[in-house]
Amino acid sequence: MSLVPMKDILLRAEAGGYGVGAFSVADMEMILGAVKAAEELQVPMILQIAQVRLPFSPLDKIAPMMIAAAKNASIPVAVHFDHGLDVQAIGQALDLGFTSVMIDASKLSIDENIKITSEVRKMADRYNASVEAEVGQLGVSEDGTGDASRIHSDPKEVKRLYEETGVDAIALSIGNQHGFYKAAPKLNFEILEEANSLVPVPLVLHGGSGISDEDFRKCISLGITKINVATATFSAVKDAAKTYLEGEKTDYFSLSDSMMKGAYKNIKRHMQVFSMKKEI
Ligand code: 13P
Repeated sequence: MSLVPMKDILLRAEAGGYGVGAFSVADMEMILGAVKAAEELQVPMILQIAQVRLPFSPLDKIAPMMIAAAKNASIPVAVHFDHGLDVQAIGQALDLGFTSVMIDASKLSIDENIKITSEVRKMADRYNASVEAEVGQLGVSEDGTGDASRIHSDPKEVKRLYEETGVDAIALSIGNQHGFYKAAPKLNFEILEEANSLVPVPLVLHGGSGISDEDFRKCISLGITKINVATATFSAVKDAAKTYLEGEKTDYFSLSDSMMKGAYKNIKRHMQVFSMKKEI
């Protein structure tokens, strides 16, 4: 059994000075590819799904698969509900056995954000689950909708949210965006450094697809412990399927295997950077 609360994985990583990848999954191939990569590298990982993806991957169907994969893995795995938008959906994820939830109330005022995050904190405590909150909007949502204008986190608000809610991890907006970047991202490391000096909890970097290895390493050295990657995996799986289907002889099961390998390669590459491990 290696399904664990996200907090356990992040605190160990913070003490060890390495980062942990939180990989978004949408189907069985991605789940299998992610766990295979983590087992080969022997690194902890977070399997996650965002609320906006549920029309494609219904939670009651994908949750049991994610949880079974975590329980049977040889490394610690947390199963995380990413960008929870309402208390009801978060409650459903906790009932299904997720060991971590994110409440994304970053669009609200800091007072309202703190109010709903505190509610989620109390709810998650009943399940011994971890809680991630977000301060400062990323602008573009995981499904590509929203306003691209960047709204950076205010470190003082990060401190206030931590002190008034006691969350386990806080996501920041420092010039990161969901989806592939149109221009190379310019991360604001000063905001990250200041936020890290004000709160003792691990910080989270969303929008991992397209950030350079060098920036990932710098973020980890300045307090980022959890790094979210979604678009790069979805794209790698789509490309692997396309390449496979362009071949002469095709069959469904080989297609499924190609998709699993597409996810595996992308996730393993990111894990190597975050965990500071060389190719094994
Ligand atoms: P990307 O899709 O940019 O990798 O972002 C993923 C993410 O932050 C999920 O919460």
